[in-house]
Amino acid sequence: MYRIMFVCLGNICRSPMAELLFLDMVKKAGREDEFVIASSATAHDNVWNGVGAPMYSQIRALLESKGIDCAKKRAQVLTREHGDEYDLFLCMDDSNVRNAKRILGEKNAHKCKKLLSYAGESGDVADPWYTRDFQTSYDDVERGLKGLLAALR
Ligand code: 4NP
Repeated sequence: MYRIMFVCLGNICRSPMAELLFLDMVKKAGREDEFVIASSATAHDNVWNGVGAPMYSQIRALLESKGIDCAKKRAQVLTREHGDEYDLFLCMDDSNVRNAKRILGEKNAHKCKKLLSYAGESGDVADPWYTRDFQTSYDDVERGLKGLLAALR
């Protein structure tokens, strides 16, 4: 069983997109039984709209156009306790990695990686909060997830 936690700043755009797209991919590959999949935010004060926030509307529209239901997802915060509950913390950018390592602490910091490393890339998933380019973020996430699924055999 692979226990995967996707991590971004707010858990309303990039990491929930990765969570729901990866779940869709593993279902289509007939591998649902092999994975526990979740996502969370490093932003502790959740200054934008808080724990329990639904996904950002444009990301939802993009995923729902591909038949992926986003209605149930609510933002949650990454905690130190998650460190023992998951095997991998797949972060969207360098700052997520730094923050996730700080939250998880020394014991589980080694479980943090950037998602795009599974596509053989050193870059970040584009942050649509700033770019407003949701398709590029989707494409980045999808490349990382394809590599991830192939790597976890
Ligand atoms: P996410 O997007 O980390 O991909 O969920 C963001 C959400 C909120 C903010 C930035 C990025 N914010 O600055 O409030």
